[in-house]
Amino acid sequence: MKEIITPPLLEVKELSVNYGGIQALKAVDLFIRSGEVVTLIGANGAGKSTMLRAISRLIHPLRGQLVYNGRSILRCQPHEVVRLGISQSPEGRKVLARQTVLDNLELGAYTRSHRETQADLDRQFALFPRLAERRHQLAGTLSGGEQQMLAIGRALMSRPKLLLLDEPSLGLAPTIVREIFSIIRNLRATGVTILLVEQNAHLALQTADRGYVLEAGQITLTGAADSLLDDERVKKAYLG
Ligand SMILES: Nc1ncnc2c1ncn2[C@@H]1O[C@H](COP(=O)(O)OP(=O)(O)O)[C@@H](O)[C@H]1O
Ligand SMILES: [Mg+2]
Repeated sequence: MKEIITPPLLEVKELSVNYGGIQALKAVDLFIRSGEVVTLIGANGAGKSTMLRAISRLIHPLRGQLVYNGRSILRCQPHEVVRLGISQSPEGRKVLARQTVLDNLELGAYTRSHRETQADLDRQFALFPRLAERRHQLAGTLSGGEQQMLAIGRALMSRPKLLLLDEPSLGLAPTIVREIFSIIRNLRATGVTILLVEQNAHLALQTADRGYVLEAGQITLTGAADSLLDDERVKKAYLG
């Protein structure tokens, strides 16, 4: 059988990011194929959020390449990246507390037409029934887990091809964490490509196809998620 090799959906090449004197990413290479769930795991301060923020064009790399769908996005503005199909659910959710669930979701749809937005809202409410029940509630009064669902739902409103999730399990109770991960698995079944940043390495590797381990701004290990789950170094540092 002839193997068809499609180029990756996203290719990060030798990406370096500095904050003043701090080198947060040091020549990082990473790729994601269409349809994959790829996880980036690492300790606090390793540079995970920096990677996602660079892809979203919220920060400017010092050096390196970001190639999405065959084109460089290095010079794109953040809103252009969203239009091209990349959307991020940020660390700490960042929902607008004094706006309703509905308003927060509609904010995520600013690149879409009014007609499309209604269909997209219906899709989010089907995916997150808890948000449907609370559509007129102020986002600040939602539980942490519900706010996380809202942050993911808001990111999905632009119908991304590539969804960037920054620590969706952070600070949530175990039952809610399981619920969030089951939603992530449902999402992958709909064909959206996901880059999942997590400190919960165990759940992330159980959910992903492949993984990268980031330590102090450098990739130290990469491979199939199940092989990383079995790797002694990963077990010792992240699964203990
Ligand atoms: N806006 C910023 N200004 C200066 N340093 C920053 C900034 N954001 C992050 N850093 C530093 O960059 C490094 C990586 O941070 P971050 O990407 O947030 O790590 P992670 O998401 O893996 O916890 C840390 O040393 C952090 O202190
Ligand atoms: Mg972070």
